[in-house]
Amino acid sequence: PDPGWTTTADVVVIGSGIAGLTAALRLRGEVGKVLVVTKDVLAAGSTQWAQGGIAAALGPGDTPHEHEVDTLVAGAGACDRAAVEVLVTEGPDAVRELIALGTNFDHDPDGELSLTREGGHHRDRIAHAGGDATGAEIQRALIAAVEQAPEIEVIQHALAVDLLLAEDGGVAGLTLHVMGEGQRDGVGAVLCRAVVLASGGLGQVFSQTTNPAVSTGDGMAVALRAGAVLRDLEFVQFHPTVMYLGAESRGQQPLISEAVRGEGAFLVDFDGNRFMQGVHELADLAPRDVVAKAIMRRMLDSDHPHMWLDARHLGAAFWERRFPTILATCRSHGVDPVTDLIPVAPACHYASGGVVTDLWGRSNVPGLYATGEVACSGVHGANRLASNSLLEGLVFSRRIATVLPAELRPLLPPVDDPRTPDLVPGAVRRELQEVMTSQVGVLRSADGLSDAGRLLDKLAGVPAAAIDQESWETTNLLTISGALADAAALREETRGSHWREDFPERDDVDFAGHFDVVMSDGVC
Ligand code: SIN
Repeated sequence: PDPGWTTTADVVVIGSGIAGLTAALRLRGEVGKVLVVTKDVLAAGSTQWAQGGIAAALGPGDTPHEHEVDTLVAGAGACDRAAVEVLVTEGPDAVRELIALGTNFDHDPDGELSLTREGGHHRDRIAHAGGDATGAEIQRALIAAVEQAPEIEVIQHALAVDLLLAEDGGVAGLTLHVMGEGQRDGVGAVLCRAVVLASGGLGQVFSQTTNPAVSTGDGMAVALRAGAVLRDLEFVQFHPTVMYLGAESRGQQPLISEAVRGEGAFLVDFDGNRFMQGVHELADLAPRDVVAKAIMRRMLDSDHPHMWLDARHLGAAFWERRFPTILATCRSHGVDPVTDLIPVAPACHYASGGVVTDLWGRSNVPGLYATGEVACSGVHGANRLASNSLLEGLVFSRRIATVLPAELRPLLPPVDDPRTPDLVPGAVRRELQEVMTSQVGVLRSADGLSDAGRLLDKLAGVPAAAIDQESWETTNLLTISGALADAAALREETRGSHWREDFPERDDVDFAGHFDVVMSDGVC
């Protein structure tokens, strides 16, 4: 689409969660004008929904090495070891910096940082805030800091449509679709010297997800259309304990943090059996993929749509102090966790894959950096360790801000660009989500994946009647769904969060490595 307005910036940050705002705060004063663009309001992304916390080796006796071992084990042999080392060694300082910025983490009565445990961790190393409102507190502190920084300009309600590329194939700017922002309404162009992609994940590919409505894979689709390489798309993590609200419930579903199990809650089936015992040495606190699979197996074997989480013994006072948000949410749905079992089932939670980056957040497209859930830095492998995601955004955004000022490109003219995809209407989104959930969800098979591929191809032929946010988002969802289903079909083994009914074993003998996705002539 032709831009109705044009502006310039030195660096544009797409996204306003922990990754985007950390990058913007770190870059201010180093690179001239920093512009943050965000599809909704600043706080609308996934960060504010994070409950459990942020993992780092901050406790007595804990070490980055132990954090590294837990991360590698959870990642099921598919992590990039160098990236994990960066994450765990720089993590403690990065969290201290968040504290210095004004984030109020919870403390023990003796004044020490309160640390809890989650699945896959062998130590208490999860810092939390407001009990179970860690992400909201971090988001609050970051927004407050950005509001104090006049060098950072913000455009809200701005969907990143596509990157503008220079003659050399590197970044020259981007086009935006802005809604309701006065002078800069409609489609506009920002000419710039670098773009930091921090636009989050793709949870809305599935019918039930813990992700907010904005998580439509836009950044990954934009990067693909610009020539970036994506990796590990098949490794979508399903959180084991998402509150089950009934078969008809769609969209964002309430998360019951793993920290609830960290504080002693346990899973039971319809006969009251604690089915995680004997499945793994960490039982209910096994890595997330192990718990999700065990729940699914019980659901399939017993023909029930969910299992139960028992946290009644924690008692009313503990619930009110430690998990006030989850308590209120459960009660608002008619379940009182102090007296009732909580119905839970796995739902889409986190994209471990994304835009391939090096240890400094650089993608293969000159001038394009990526950080947070949109990126594939290699730290998560086949299954992200709990509470490593906020940390990843923090650590790798700091790293990008270290190298980017010296790597700034000149402002280059964009070349003519015929990459605009054929848009599909928002009306096909539900059908897309249903097939992705039933055939490309927790449990996958060759037949289901090829059924999904056929339906996705059919949906791609439905023309959009209007160019609006809904059609852009649905087109992005379709692009990413196709790539994800293809990667899932190629991976003929079960590894981490990728579970194949027809290839139930992990194959370390013929490990296929990673599947990279690129786009050529509009096709992945
Ligand atoms: C949770 O609180 O269970 C989610 C934490 C995470 O996804 O890292």
